[in-house]
Amino acid sequence: MGASIPTIETTRLRLRPFRAGDAATVAALLEDPEVSRTLSSVPYPYRQQYAEDWIATHEDVFTARGEIDLAITMRDGAELVGAISLLVPDGESLHELGYWLGRRHWGRGIATEAACALVDFARQTLGVRTIRARCMIANPASAAVLGKSGFRRVGRAAPIEKDGRRHDAAAFVYESPRDG
Ligand SMILES: CC(C)(COP(=O)(O)OP(=O)(O)OC[C@H]1O[C@@H](n2cnc3c(N)ncnc32)[C@H](O)[C@@H]1OP(=O)(O)O)[C@@H](O)C(=O)NCCC(=O)NCCS
Repeated sequence: MGASIPTIETTRLRLRPFRAGDAATVAALLEDPEVSRTLSSVPYPYRQQYAEDWIATHEDVFTARGEIDLAITMRDGAELVGAISLLVPDGESLHELGYWLGRRHWGRGIATEAACALVDFARQTLGVRTIRARCMIANPASAAVLGKSGFRRVGRAAPIEKDGRRHDAAAFVYESPRDG
């Protein structure tokens, strides 16, 4: 049997593979326009079917491309609060980090805790040395998460298309220490 999508634990969080039964919660969190607004690949309005279809791809993209999509859940109570991913976009060789949280979970350091844990896992377990990320310039919370997770801003990224508009974007890179 091949490897399976990992589960990663931190002080407060359990980053675990999504299950089909998570789709309703994912849809409820992504129906919020404030969450969706800065996410390039999340349609709005959002439907539960999108979540079902997305979750159904995870095993295949992990097996075929090593892409990791994880539910961010609280160790205490198991509530699903968001998602974090390490993808390899088409035509790219570097991994790219992405994440979102339901709005009521913002501002408690959860995204930073999840991002640091996934970056550490990629470095230590997968041997990944370089990870890219990008965010809209108008998304200072995400830029702060990246900065606190060891990424440095390296200039502009291609504009992010969202709802028929192009948004200026910043590019970030994480490079693991040589002895890491
Ligand atoms: C971006 C997002 C994941 C951040 O999640 P979070 O758990 O609230 O993030 P954290 O608490 O770990 O860190 C947020 C940091 O941004 C800072 N911040 C928040 N709003 C800010 C603003 N308007 N200007 C500057 N900094 C801001 C916070 O102060 C915090 O930094 P600090 O700990 O140094 O004070 C969350 O806002 C979200 O899901 N947004 C919608 C989806 C999204 O944009 N995803 C990223 C796409 S690139």
